[in-house]
Amino acid sequence: MIDWKITERGFYPEKIAFNGNKFLIANGYMGVRGTLEEFTKDQLVAVNMAGLYDQVGNGWRESVNAPNGFFTYLIVDEEICRLPECEPSEHSVSLDYRNGIFSRKTTWKTPRGSLTVESERFVSLAQPHLALMKYKISSNFHADIELITGIDADVWDINGPHYSNMELFEEDGLIKAIGTTSEKGHKICVTENCSINLPSEKRLSIKDKKILRHFCFILRPEHDCVIEKWISVCTSNDTENYEQKAASLINDYMKSGYKYVKNSHIEKWEERWKVSEVFIEGHKEAMEALNYSIYHLISVAPRHSKSLSIPARGLSGQVYKGAVFWDTEMFMLDFFLYTDPQVARTLIKYRIDTLDGAIRKARYYGYDGAFYAWESQETGDDACSDYNVVDVFTKRPVRTYFKDKQIHISSAIVRGIMRYIEITGDKTILDEGGAETIIECAKFYYSLLLKRLNRNVYELHDVVGPDEYHERVNNNGYTNRMAKYTFDMAVEVLSSVKNLEPETAKRLKNKYKVSQLIKSFTDASKHIYIPQPDKNGIIEQFDGYMKLEDASLEEVRSRLLDEKEYWGGANGVASHTRIIKQADVVTWLAMFPDDFPHEILLANWRYYEPRTEHGSSLSACMYGLLACRCGMPEKALPFFMKSARADLEGTGKEWAGLIYIGGTHPAAAGGAYMTAVNGFGGIYFEEEKLKAKPQLPPNWQKLRFNIYYKGKLHRVEVDQKGGVSVTREP
Ligand code: BGC
Repeated sequence: MIDWKITERGFYPEKIAFNGNKFLIANGYMGVRGTLEEFTKDQLVAVNMAGLYDQVGNGWRESVNAPNGFFTYLIVDEEICRLPECEPSEHSVSLDYRNGIFSRKTTWKTPRGSLTVESERFVSLAQPHLALMKYKISSNFHADIELITGIDADVWDINGPHYSNMELFEEDGLIKAIGTTSEKGHKICVTENCSINLPSEKRLSIKDKKILRHFCFILRPEHDCVIEKWISVCTSNDTENYEQKAASLINDYMKSGYKYVKNSHIEKWEERWKVSEVFIEGHKEAMEALNYSIYHLISVAPRHSKSLSIPARGLSGQVYKGAVFWDTEMFMLDFFLYTDPQVARTLIKYRIDTLDGAIRKARYYGYDGAFYAWESQETGDDACSDYNVVDVFTKRPVRTYFKDKQIHISSAIVRGIMRYIEITGDKTILDEGGAETIIECAKFYYSLLLKRLNRNVYELHDVVGPDEYHERVNNNGYTNRMAKYTFDMAVEVLSSVKNLEPETAKRLKNKYKVSQLIKSFTDASKHIYIPQPDKNGIIEQFDGYMKLEDASLEEVRSRLLDEKEYWGGANGVASHTRIIKQADVVTWLAMFPDDFPHEILLANWRYYEPRTEHGSSLSACMYGLLACRCGMPEKALPFFMKSARADLEGTGKEWAGLIYIGGTHPAAAGGAYMTAVNGFGGIYFEEEKLKAKPQLPPNWQKLRFNIYYKGKLHRVEVDQKGGVSVTREP
């Protein structure tokens, strides 16, 4: 049994930013950072909105943070009593990750006695627009209290301010903050009501972008004060009547009571855990870390939408512009395919619906087909900047090539769609635009192929592979292999046009010269250059990689002049060495383990691992997965733990040059899940059956999980001795 609760005791100001991520609560619609009620933008408070973006001037376009309806603090005997200013005698924060409930308990000693605040809050998994908080104050003396609570509309922005206008007002007992975003004029409406159990003097204030209720009363030792806060968030993106909706949600749910809303939230979590929980017998820490990772994935799943994806930093804020990367399809998707196929469909549908943006991007660079955004937002246009890193020394932006050269992104989308079909068996996704998406991605790679007059192969030049430290390289093995896969999948789709819905077949035939494309893509797949192992079995990551300096990781690290320095690009310490940022060849081999015999997989794992900085949280799980394929579960275990604990430990990078990149890491969470289930659990699909070839790490006696395959839930239990039991629901 695991505790399902993480708690941190003591107050450490230097951990405020990190704890905001570690204790995050979210429901796919919004994410609320694990900060305290009295905190403001200075402590990086954020109510981060899924799928809503804004740009101010030429600043980076990023996701929008809503006004914070949880804002609450106290004045005790005329002294402001709040963190971080007022040091507590005791303090703890907790996250109950079984039920998605954040809580805190803080005691302050005042000259007249001690006073304790206990609060809990959640964003409802049952009603995505609703968030609740209970806040209790108790004291051992007759305290003169002013309790201040309301909405703080002075939001934290990285590239803001995003509201060109903010209305703050009271109406029918509700207080409201309605912000208008500067670029598209979206309205974000936060509405709050609050009940208090003690008689008090009440007034309202509107000042410094805050609308606040003030409750003044004497708090006696024998009678605690409890307030319940009801907060709703609705936007003009959801409905035209966002304001009425926000108000009626509060009025209706207040009638049902706090307990009812909390219970229905907990029931929804239970529903998710019934399918998603993973049991590991023999390694409690691993089971905790994995289920904590799963908590984060469930929290950010866009269950309220039919077409939306998950940003690289989840709903923990505006880092990475709230944008969607290859992280979703390559690292997170399997979890949703196996446990919540509806969400997987929503993620895939988002890519289909943003195909036009990808087509625009390809045209912009002079290519055919669909070049997906490296950093994708609601339209699929690329939010990535050409200068995505700031140099620590000169403070000048550095030209980076993530946006224009990381072409492997389009193949990730294709893989996502095909994986969706493989696991769910639902081919209607092809009718709904999936077919075109795959074909357009193949056309994109086709338009990039180069042929030298003296070589009989096609090459892809001037790219950036997953290892972003080496820019503008030729024939990155991972990229070429994924392009080949894309051609193969496009051929598969085009060759089976007749099996699709007649409407789809007609549409595709009108749009494409089907037989010509089949011919071209077949030829492309056959002739695209795929780097092969050398005499030692090593695959060169890209042309010329082996000619680079073979310095050790420690040596390269020691050359840093500043710990925040960017390792890649023109002047980076890694660029002219064989040190790589993250799994690259290894990602290829983890995705396509059947490409080479076992010894080759192993040789590459051994070669690249010491040369990998693991500067991205996406790296460890690929080493974990491949170690499993190589029959080394004991070697995979530390990589699995690193992925699963990414948001518990906070050892990941917080800076890329001068750019803050902290936040939650759902791709690492998804990667940990993949390592557990696909790696240790060894599941695979053959002849329409779910099978497993497990290999558990030394102490793991049993591993148990559930998987949806072709619409049926399968309960899988594997054990240390290789035993496998798969039962399918009737
Ligand atoms: C990694 C990318 C990743 C991005 C978002 C970068 O540091 O190199 O592969 O997609 O972070 O997680």
